[in-house]
Amino acid sequence: MKNVSMLALAVCTAGTLFAAEVGDSFLLHTKNTTLALCRQQGSWNVLHYGAKVSSQSDAFALAWNRWAGGNSVSQRRPAAYAAYGGDKDGGYGFNKFGGLQVTHADGCLTLHLVGEKAETLPDETGVTHLVLVQRDRFYPFWVVQHFRALEKCDVIETWIELRNGEDGAVRLGRMDSFAMGFPLIANAFRFQYVTGQWAAEAQLRETSIERGQTVSIGSRSGVRDAWENNASFMLTAGETSSETSGRVFGGVLCWSGSWGISVQRDHCDFVEIRAGADTSAGAYVLDAGKSITLPKFAFTFSSKGKGQISRNIHRWARDWQLPAGSKLRPVLLNSWEGSYFSFTEKVLHDMMDGVKEMGGELFVLDDGWFGTGKYARDDVHKDKVGLGDWVINPEKLPNGLVGLSDEAKARGLKFGFWVEPEMVNTNSWLYEAHPEWVIREKNRPVNVGRGGSQTVLDYSNPAVRQNTYNQLDALYSKILDLAYIKWDANADFYNMGSTYLDAAHQANLPFDYTVGLYDLLAKLRAKYPQVDIQACSSGGGHVDFGFLRYADEFWGSDDSDARERVFIQWGESQFYPACTIAAHVTDVPNHQTHRTTPLKYRFDVAMSARLGFELHPKNMSAEDVAFAKKCVADYKRIRPTVQQGDLYRLVSPYDNNYAALMYVNEEATHAVVFLWGLARGNWSDFVPPLALQGLADDKSYAVKEINVAKGRKHCRVDGRILGGSALGSMGLPVRLSGDYDSAVFELTAK
Ligand code: GLA
Repeated sequence: MKNVSMLALAVCTAGTLFAAEVGDSFLLHTKNTTLALCRQQGSWNVLHYGAKVSSQSDAFALAWNRWAGGNSVSQRRPAAYAAYGGDKDGGYGFNKFGGLQVTHADGCLTLHLVGEKAETLPDETGVTHLVLVQRDRFYPFWVVQHFRALEKCDVIETWIELRNGEDGAVRLGRMDSFAMGFPLIANAFRFQYVTGQWAAEAQLRETSIERGQTVSIGSRSGVRDAWENNASFMLTAGETSSETSGRVFGGVLCWSGSWGISVQRDHCDFVEIRAGADTSAGAYVLDAGKSITLPKFAFTFSSKGKGQISRNIHRWARDWQLPAGSKLRPVLLNSWEGSYFSFTEKVLHDMMDGVKEMGGELFVLDDGWFGTGKYARDDVHKDKVGLGDWVINPEKLPNGLVGLSDEAKARGLKFGFWVEPEMVNTNSWLYEAHPEWVIREKNRPVNVGRGGSQTVLDYSNPAVRQNTYNQLDALYSKILDLAYIKWDANADFYNMGSTYLDAAHQANLPFDYTVGLYDLLAKLRAKYPQVDIQACSSGGGHVDFGFLRYADEFWGSDDSDARERVFIQWGESQFYPACTIAAHVTDVPNHQTHRTTPLKYRFDVAMSARLGFELHPKNMSAEDVAFAKKCVADYKRIRPTVQQGDLYRLVSPYDNNYAALMYVNEEATHAVVFLWGLARGNWSDFVPPLALQGLADDKSYAVKEINVAKGRKHCRVDGRILGGSALGSMGLPVRLSGDYDSAVFELTAK
């Protein structure tokens, strides 16, 4: 028990001077919500989370205080942080579901948390930062639970620090960041999430949670954490919710490794929500005297439906989570679909000419520029070789990345390039020198993925991270105006083991890998703050708010078909703001689906997010280039509203053969409406007027259709000035005809 006093001291010192002690109850407010907490029988419980409650005594009086459970054996406490173990000394109430399970140094399997101290910490940003220091009633093991209430966006961030003051290591069988219990709050629940696969990410699904059920989503990929399910969800409390109605809880786990989220509605309608890092590889071993900080979980509530949940999290992302959330994202051209592995300097220079002509701002060189000798990633070897060797292939690019960035600069473009830092090919100089640096099992061959030779580096090992850092640093530092990195990751953990970790700590690998990845990202971001990062992982595999602490945007899918992107971006928009969603105009027939859609349609879809190109401009006709030029110029004008404004999803593609959404700037003086037809049942199907949202009732707006192709307009009131309230109640009259017709309208307050 030697570390006890030291740990207790550490717990107390943060904010000793200004921290304010909290009594036995506390209301944590944001603009429209309240989390009401209360210490009962020594432990911190939740009285309420939802719409605002302003008095502690009201919260106490109205809370469901019989807890849930028809008989006291199954009764559960609405814990602020539910752990596996006893809730009451010598009484009933053993929570066998809690999100934290600790096996103590002496083998004891349970926790019994009591509130040791509660205080609010000073926060220079004006945020309320509440800290609940909880300790096991017997063991020197601390759970320090943090809450930061972010007023304007109605989001509460929470995270957990675990401190082991025991004489030996403890094992964490479950280590959730959020494990909150709610007593009876509704008699119906619905769980919305997104799921998918390669080139079909973020498909929206919703299921009811019946009494006695637990609904879970998760990823055990280790790397492509968002490829299948995304670490985010909405929970409707009550029969139903829509974009504009219903009581909805929304949460996101900020983690790029394996994870799990579950909502349990037990046999007595008690609800426990859990979210955290996955421990299916085995219990995490936390050594004596050590602490660990678990990933952040951010949550919000609205009694006005799912749209408000999205807007809250979008605002939170821009204001608090993204590295530079208020910076406008550039219009770029990425070389991948335009040339794949087949390029020369001349091909790339021609592409740059095309970007410049269309008004683009950044050129990004994708895969295929690196590797030397027998491991050169050329047109013959393609993706079979070279990952891990981040040096230029001089055969392909004699003037290197520096030469290319100079060429970009000469055309007034910024420059960026692709890299896949977490990966290595077994066909590489790096692997030849360090076969022990990959994730692998001691006595088994290494399993590989893409190209028959790709596998994952062991980032729990600081030497491996340092090697990547040194290689990237050498590249970054030579390119003076480097503006952008596309950070790809095209594999999962195909193996599970580390030559760096000792036998006792093998199961720490998944968690320590992600912590190591963040360490590398943080170092690069700190040294090169001006270099934006795109998170890519075989498309949408790294779409998570853990990565987006370091990355500015993500490549949402390798499927660039505009019609499919309507769905994918719809799913991603549930939690991720438009400034983070990279959407590229590509060639037709589309390379993934072989579908041909009009250029206008492709622009109309891509312009609803972060617009870019992924094609060779020389394959475009002069007429198409002229149209593109006009679209890019218009995009630059609407960009602040699209990338920084509030999103209103108007018509879902899941319920109709068309879809519509709009963005409104904060002052409600500018709005942009997007309307996309899907495959139409009948060319003349009528689209009802679009009831616009988010406009000011007392303002009038000039309606202007933009991206007009071949003189075809889609609205009979184009050019008129109309009242915000009428546009909301009567709606904007619009027309679509045939497959893949679309329209974009700009509304400007007069
Ligand atoms: C992944 C990415 C693509 C592209 C290729 C390059 O599939 O998702 O966008 O960068 O790798 O190999």
